[in-house]
Amino acid sequence: MLNEKLAERRLPALMTLNDGRAVTTAKLWRERREELLDLLRREEYGYSPAAPESVTGTVEKETLVCAGKATQYDVTLSFDTPRGPFSFPIALIVPKAPEKPPVFVHISFFTPIPSKYLPIEEVVDRGYAVAAFNYESVTSDKADIDGLAAMYPIDEKTGWGTIGMWAFAASRVLDYLETRSDVDAQRACVTGHSRLGKTALWCAAQDERFTMAVSNDSGCSGAAISRGKVGESIERITRVFPYWFCGNYRAWADREYEAPFDQHMLLSLIAPRRLYVCSAIEDTWADPESEFLACVAASPAWSVQRVPGLITPDDMPAVNQPLMEGGVCYHVRTGTHFHSRTDWN
Ligand code: GCU
Repeated sequence: MLNEKLAERRLPALMTLNDGRAVTTAKLWRERREELLDLLRREEYGYSPAAPESVTGTVEKETLVCAGKATQYDVTLSFDTPRGPFSFPIALIVPKAPEKPPVFVHISFFTPIPSKYLPIEEVVDRGYAVAAFNYESVTSDKADIDGLAAMYPIDEKTGWGTIGMWAFAASRVLDYLETRSDVDAQRACVTGHSRLGKTALWCAAQDERFTMAVSNDSGCSGAAISRGKVGESIERITRVFPYWFCGNYRAWADREYEAPFDQHMLLSLIAPRRLYVCSAIEDTWADPESEFLACVAASPAWSVQRVPGLITPDDMPAVNQPLMEGGVCYHVRTGTHFHSRTDWN
């Protein structure tokens, strides 16, 4: 049944190299991964500049939070760019126990941090640290060239859009976390909701230091396959939010079936690391079924590396029946477009 559903989407082949060779080994997958990264950079999200040599963090403030169960560090991160130093603030919340906890890098819509999309006390009680930043402190969610966007030259066709910039910032947060001894940067998960779910996926796709990514209701140009998708389309997203992407992406508006790529390729770049795609049943704009099918279609990138991909019955799971056994996890929960406690839990 899933095979038939996928066949209808007529996806471009994931497991075939550009020269026609089948990707049958983990080694060949490394070659294929490079091709796919380049494809998505050129046609969708744009090329990001190289990482800066180092990132420094200045702790501005230290506060006990969550009934004294955790410490919040307000930190300014700084690094060099071709046009001078760039800084943005983050909040790092570290539970008192366990020692050296795993850490979420949360790309957030809001300041102050935490917010309605980050149930911090639950997260702390479960033994995780969180490093969060407001995405607009990196660059504004507009076509304006400000913040990080103003610090690098940008090619009109292939230069990064704001999703690339926010993703780059999440990687700089991880650079900083690697310098701290009180969190385990080897177990870092990048996460975000909606446009920031798209960002979390693009971040983990490029930055293999993240051992896990969780996208929440990321939909169009995130976890959802574009071919046959309901709700938002490439035409609509590149008309309303062109600056999220590189200039080339617009060329695929209303030409989904001709594009040499689709979003299962984005997910595949996270293999063999852990990926969790969260959907909400009333979020038809994002399209849960297209998000689920992308997980199925991306799974061969895990199996070729000897990690099971999505472990699923031969149909979309029922609402609130998470699939969490494989390297790719998926759930569709009750309710609307929101980053809820259910998703975090
Ligand atoms: C809009 C947009 C989506 C995006 C969402 C969000 O609805 O069309 O692509 O995911 O905003 O970020 O909340």
